[in-house]
Amino acid sequence: MKSLPWWKEAVIYQIYPRSFFDSNGDGEGDLPGITSKLEYVQQLGVDAIWLSPFYTSPNKDGGYDVADPRDVDPRFGNLADAQSLIDHAHELHMKVLADVVPNHFSDQHEWFQAALGAGPGSPERARFHFYDANPDGTPPNNWISLFGGPSWTQVADGQYYLHLFDSSQPDLNWDNDDVNKDFEETLRFWLDRGVDGFRIDVAHGLVKEDILKNHHDPQGLSNALRLDYPMDHETRNALLLSVPYFDRQGVHEIYRRWRKLFDSYGDREIMAVAEAWVHPPINATKYVRPDELHQVFNFDLLTAPFEAAHLYEVINRSIELNATVNALPTWALSNHDSPRVASRIGDEESRALALFVFALPGSSYIFAGQELGLPDGELSDSDRQDPSFIRSGGTVKGRDGARVPLPWSGDSTPFGFTSGKPWLPIAQSWQRFTVENQDKDPSSILNLFRQALTLRRQYLLASQKISWVQSPIHGNHDDSLLAFMRESVTVVMNLSSHSKEVDVPGEVLLSSFGDIQVHGSKKLLPARSCIWISN
Ligand code: GLC
Repeated sequence: MKSLPWWKEAVIYQIYPRSFFDSNGDGEGDLPGITSKLEYVQQLGVDAIWLSPFYTSPNKDGGYDVADPRDVDPRFGNLADAQSLIDHAHELHMKVLADVVPNHFSDQHEWFQAALGAGPGSPERARFHFYDANPDGTPPNNWISLFGGPSWTQVADGQYYLHLFDSSQPDLNWDNDDVNKDFEETLRFWLDRGVDGFRIDVAHGLVKEDILKNHHDPQGLSNALRLDYPMDHETRNALLLSVPYFDRQGVHEIYRRWRKLFDSYGDREIMAVAEAWVHPPINATKYVRPDELHQVFNFDLLTAPFEAAHLYEVINRSIELNATVNALPTWALSNHDSPRVASRIGDEESRALALFVFALPGSSYIFAGQELGLPDGELSDSDRQDPSFIRSGGTVKGRDGARVPLPWSGDSTPFGFTSGKPWLPIAQSWQRFTVENQDKDPSSILNLFRQALTLRRQYLLASQKISWVQSPIHGNHDDSLLAFMRESVTVVMNLSSHSKEVDVPGEVLLSSFGDIQVHGSKKLLPARSCIWISN
């Protein structure tokens, strides 16, 4: 039997470099810091790491404002440090994914600076979206930035440039061949240094249509794109069905070209995963057609309530839709853009859901700190640095809560993360979350993740099929239980707030919460828990 490409069932650990481990006392994590902790990451049992951007950047958007995609920001180290990190990860048999940010550059990138100097109509401006003002001086259209405020900023000579995000992040014009060539160079640059693939930032945003037309409801659209904004389903659906700057047909041509480039690296099995928030869900599968990318993030679980019917629907849908293009789904409960799962649904719930998801076919993503059960950090507004906080005048709190640095060891904040002052404060109450404490505690979430990932390899990966045993449409319709079988393992999750007895023969391999009482084939699942049973 031919074994699957490494990424098909990989567990991938996302590192936000600023918040991982600081080796030089400046209060921000860095590449040597990550390298020094790779054994810790490996012992978790993951197959790969994904590094959020560490490139030269003025850091207006946590490094997603790239001023030189082929160099390392001095805050994070230098190119030699990046090489040591990649090499050491490989020594430990972990793959490395880099983040590529093709929708925009930083306004400090030399191209943008040249465009400012070169003036209207110049080839330098043609690499971005520069347009004249309307006759009344207003911007070329009424689009609203995803971080709030207009998506156009005017320069000294009167022209405006487009930025879907912060004004310091001018959007690139993908109809311009310089852009295309430059990104191919960046991809090769990192592949030639050994990276095994990429996470593609805002992968659905590269191509814009109707750039000179007003949108009929720009504020509505901007609200609809915000996951935390309450809106009735029909209104949101209608607005998201056609977004002039997202998910246009043209993006797929770009990924077909990239796929050829990746495949030219032959047996290195280079892979790429798309960040593509698209609508309706079937559209996401277009990014993973056989001649395009390898994975597309599935964001459903970042917002899903801890509710059997909802979880069943989104999990099953993702498996079925991906199957139509012969792809496997991806699963993520947290990332650097969303509230941490423990804060969003609760501690016990998030442990249970993690076990449930680790047993599903496809790739699981873990956001660093999730294995410690970290909640969102409590921050005061004066700590916040997220541009969405700043551009919304503070009405959107932003994503800093999920980005508070990791607590490693010791009894007092900043718990070994840095010898200096951490860039975001770490609460003293986080002592109970330190790696040092959890390492010693067999019932910690850290040890649960370690066990789960070991058992996953041992018991589950031989086949990519699951069969539902208990769901809103399978089994005895208990609306607080979900269960499926994969290989010889039955995975059962009790979503209710009281314990439940299930009758499944076999030995309990793992439980998200404490010891399980067993009487013959009957097992008593605590409230909000998940177990794996080997039949
Ligand atoms: C992506 C990143 C996010 C960033 C945005 C703009 O969504 O995940 O952190 O702010 O792109 O680059």
